[in-house]
Amino acid sequence: MRIGLLGTGNVAQALAQGWNAAGHDVLLGSRRPEERKESRLPVAGLPETAAHAEVLVNATPGAVSVELLRSIGAPSLAGTLLIDVGVGLSDDFTELSHPNSSLGEQIQEAFPLTPVVKTLCTMDSTVMTAPDGLAGPSTVFLSGDDAEAKRTTGRLLADLGWPSSSQLDIGGITTSRGQEHFALLFMGIANGLGSHTFNINVVPRPGRNP
Ligand SMILES: NC(=O)c1ccc[n+]([C@@H]2O[C@H](COP(=O)([O-])OP(=O)(O)OC[C@H]3O[C@@H](n4cnc5c(N)ncnc54)[C@H](OP(=O)(O)O)[C@@H]3O)[C@@H](O)[C@H]2O)c1
Repeated sequence: MRIGLLGTGNVAQALAQGWNAAGHDVLLGSRRPEERKESRLPVAGLPETAAHAEVLVNATPGAVSVELLRSIGAPSLAGTLLIDVGVGLSDDFTELSHPNSSLGEQIQEAFPLTPVVKTLCTMDSTVMTAPDGLAGPSTVFLSGDDAEAKRTTGRLLADLGWPSSSQLDIGGITTSRGQEHFALLFMGIANGLGSHTFNINVVPRPGRNP
């Protein structure tokens, strides 16, 4: 698939490399593509990246993501699956930008013709594309209102190494609130462990996948 990733930071680079290795056509989207010449993967402007993409991924700071998507424009995003990995957090990682809501919900509300799926934001970028690097299986969550968009996202997660048994659909886009607000506990666990390289594993009763 043609995957456009908004952002050129840790998450966008990791996911772009993972999907590139799986055979997808990836393009990173930057506010200043002329300053991103060191990137191993191709970089274009934000509107060009959105125009190129069959699937668009938001990997920009959550506090500015809606504004940034508005600058691209709703008509350019209409009908395109948007996978949202963003979380709005203060610089010291202690305050949420959307304390009584979520970025996923805000994007879906602002762009009703764009199916939004929230996923992957409950783990570090190093784990997103290497789930088998952990000591055992773990869980990736999906939130979104559009069933076909979630199926496509599930296939793209599988391409990153997440078997369907590791994927847990937790409901509509309002459930992205739980994924994003987990960021506060994530930081606590990271402090306790002394590492960001870990993930949650949902362990059901015997005989059931998560
Ligand atoms: N890092 C993780 O492990 C992790 C895990 C879970 C969720 N997340 C979430 O994923 C998103 C991306 O995280 P990241 O670690 O990849 O962040 P990052 O390294 O800071 O990269 C963010 C990218 O967004 C672009 N951007 C657009 N508008 C921006 C602005 N106003 N200020 C700064 N950058 C802006 C920048 O690309 P250009 O300068 O090229 O435009 C930048 O490279 C965030 O919402 C974060 O909360 C991150």
